[in-house]
Amino acid sequence: MKILYATSEAFPFAKSGGLGDVAGSLPKTLRKNNVDIRAVMPLYQDIPDEYKRKMKKIGDFTVQLNWRHQQCELYYLKHDNVFWYFIKNDYYFGRPGLYGYFDEAERFLFFSKAILSFIPKYDFCPNIIHCNDWQTAAIPMLLKKQGYPGCAHQVKTVLTIHNIKYQGIYGVETLYEILGLYPADITSELEFNGAINIMKAGIYYSDYVTTVSPTYAKELEHAYFGEGLDGVIRDVKWKMTGILNGVDYDVFDPMIDKALAFPYNDIEGKKKNKAAFLKEQGLDPSKLTIGMVSRLVELKGIDLVQRMIEELMALDIQLVVLGTGDYHYEEFFKYVQSRYPDQTSIHLAFSNALASRIYAASDLFLMPSRVEPCGLSQIIALKYGTLPVVNRTGGLNDTITHIEDGSDEGNGFIFNEYNAHRMFEQIKRAKRIYDEEPKRFEKFVKQAFLANFDWEQQSKEYYHIYEIVDVSNEDKGSML
Ligand code: GLC
Repeated sequence: MKILYATSEAFPFAKSGGLGDVAGSLPKTLRKNNVDIRAVMPLYQDIPDEYKRKMKKIGDFTVQLNWRHQQCELYYLKHDNVFWYFIKNDYYFGRPGLYGYFDEAERFLFFSKAILSFIPKYDFCPNIIHCNDWQTAAIPMLLKKQGYPGCAHQVKTVLTIHNIKYQGIYGVETLYEILGLYPADITSELEFNGAINIMKAGIYYSDYVTTVSPTYAKELEHAYFGEGLDGVIRDVKWKMTGILNGVDYDVFDPMIDKALAFPYNDIEGKKKNKAAFLKEQGLDPSKLTIGMVSRLVELKGIDLVQRMIEELMALDIQLVVLGTGDYHYEEFFKYVQSRYPDQTSIHLAFSNALASRIYAASDLFLMPSRVEPCGLSQIIALKYGTLPVVNRTGGLNDTITHIEDGSDEGNGFIFNEYNAHRMFEQIKRAKRIYDEEPKRFEKFVKQAFLANFDWEQQSKEYYHIYEIVDVSNEDKGSML
C-alpha cells in the first residue's frame, strides 16, 4: 500500500503552524514503521538554502489550468528517511511567506492539480492520497471528476481537517477559470451560499475524513464549532473519526533543546532555566510565572486575558508572552508591558528559540483557546514541566488532566466554560497551590514531565484508516 501525504507546509522546510509540525512528523513515524509513504509540498522561496541545496531535480511537467499551461519542475529530497517531492513554480510559490496572497485559490488549486499531474509520470502511483486542510482538499473532487490519468488502479483519499475555520471559499468562476470545470459541476457537494467551498468538497468527496482530536470531531457536529459545515459533518459521520496529534520529541525535548541555558528533565533543571531566563528579562524567579506562546487571534482566547488583566496583575504573578497577530491584541500587550514593566515581558515576535525558553521558564502555560482542534503548545508545555491552564475544548480536553481540589493527580487546570472569570478562578487555584503547597505543586510538575504524546500510537490509528480505505488487492504488508 503506497501513501502520498499532500500538505501545504511541513517542518523543517516551511511552517506557519501546527499543520507544519504534524506534516513534519507523522510521515516520518509511519516511514519508521515500514509504511511506504511519500510526501509532497510546494517549493516555497522561503525554504532554507540548506535544504534547497540538497534537493535533486526529477523532471519537468505541465499543469493545465483551464486554457493556461503552467510549467513546473519536480524536485525531491530524502529527509528523515521520507521521500519528499517539491513542486516548483515560481509564479505561484516564488514569493516570501506561505499564505495570504490575493490569488490564494489559484495557488493551491494549482498545487492540488499539479499533484495529480506529475505522479503517474514517475515511479510512484499511490493507493491513497492523504490531504490536509483546504489547500489540498480539492484533490478528492478532482479525482472523482477528472480521474487520475496514468494510474492504473483506483486512487483513494483521506482528508484531515486541522482547523475548519479556514475553508477555501471562493467565487464560482474559480471553478471554470482555474480548474476548467463546468457550471454543471457546481453540485451541492461544493456549493456554499452561492460560492464554492473547497473544504466542503473535500469532506464529501474524500473516502475518509479525520480530524485532529476525538473531542473536536464531536464538536464539529455543532454549529458553534462547525463554521457553517456542521451539517456536512453530521452527514459524513459514518466515514469520520478524530485522531489526536502526536508530538515529535526529537524536536521538542528540554534535554536536547539547544535554545535552553541548561538541558533538563527534572524540577531542579527547570528551576535553573527559570532563574536564568527571568533574570535576563528583568523579572523575579521566585514568583509564579505564566507563559503564553500563541498566535494573537480571537480563537486563541486572548479576549479572556484582556478582560482579566488587572485582576491577574493584582495577584502578584508574572506574565511572559510571545506571539504576533491581530493589531488590537498586539496593541493591548504593548499597553500591558508599559503599565506593568516589572511583572511582564512581552515579545511581539515569532521565535522558536524564545518559545522554548518561555516553556522552560514558566510555571503555568496559559492557553484559553475558545476553539482548539488539537493544540500542540500545551503538549510541549507538559514536556517542559509547565502546567497548562486551558479551556475545556477540542484537543485541550483530550490531553490535559484536571487537578481537582484535594487530589494529587493531574497535570493542568481546566475551566469548563469559555468565560474570563472561570479562567481566572483556575489561575487563582494554581497560584494558591504554588504559594501554599509547593511540594504538591511539584508533584503535578513531575506528572507533566511523564505525559507522553509521541506519534507511535497515533500513527497506528492513521494506518488503520488507510487499511479501511485501501481497496487494492496488493499485498498490504503490515505496520510494526
Ligand atoms: C491547527 C489547529 C491546531 C492543531 C494543528 C495541527 O493549527 O488550530 O489545534 O494542533 O492544526 O493539527
